[in-house]
Amino acid sequence: MKVLICGGTGFLGEAITRKLLREGNAVRVLGRSLDKIRALFGDSVEGVQGDITKSETLPKALEKMEAVVQCAQFPGHPFENRKKGSTYWQVDGLGTENVARLVKKAGVRHLLYISGAGVDGKKNGAVV
Ligand SMILES: NC(=O)c1ccc[n+]([C@@H]2O[C@H](COP(=O)([O-])OP(=O)(O)OC[C@H]3O[C@@H](n4cnc5c(N)ncnc54)[C@H](OP(=O)(O)O)[C@@H]3O)[C@@H](O)[C@H]2O)c1
Repeated sequence: MKVLICGGTGFLGEAITRKLLREGNAVRVLGRSLDKIRALFGDSVEGVQGDITKSETLPKALEKMEAVVQCAQFPGHPFENRKKGSTYWQVDGLGTENVARLVKKAGVRHLLYISGAGVDGKKNGAVV
């Protein structure tokens, strides 16, 4: 499959990316730093610079994907930095909502969200 990993440079995202590559999938990694993606994976993945809190950076990353794994979480976890917008709400919450909305719009059939947070269907599907 063609799979986009949001948070592919993180602890879980790197392991998921390497497993998907071993199994013969084509992996695109979205991260805030292309240099970081290249340092970790070289040419074995397609790196895309993006930020899940900036929805305008997502449509291009989603092009031609068949599945998305969202395992990005706010930098510095578990210590929030409100001044920098590094919080559960800004990144894990609203960022994941951006990913989910644009995955649907792009017609990508599979979205896997890996998190320490929950999804509460009683609150309009918001990530809480
Ligand atoms: N680690 C565990 O044992 C564990 C256990 C259970 C659940 N979880 C959950 O699994 C998820 C991933 O955990 P982890 O430990 O792998 O996290 P992590 O190592 O802290 O990685 C976080 C990833 O998020 C990316 N990121 C941060 N802000 C971003 C943004 N605005 N846009 C795009 N990417 C962004 C980072 O990439 P860049 O900095 O390169 O942009 C990095 O790749 C979390 O929700 C966590 O709660 C983890």
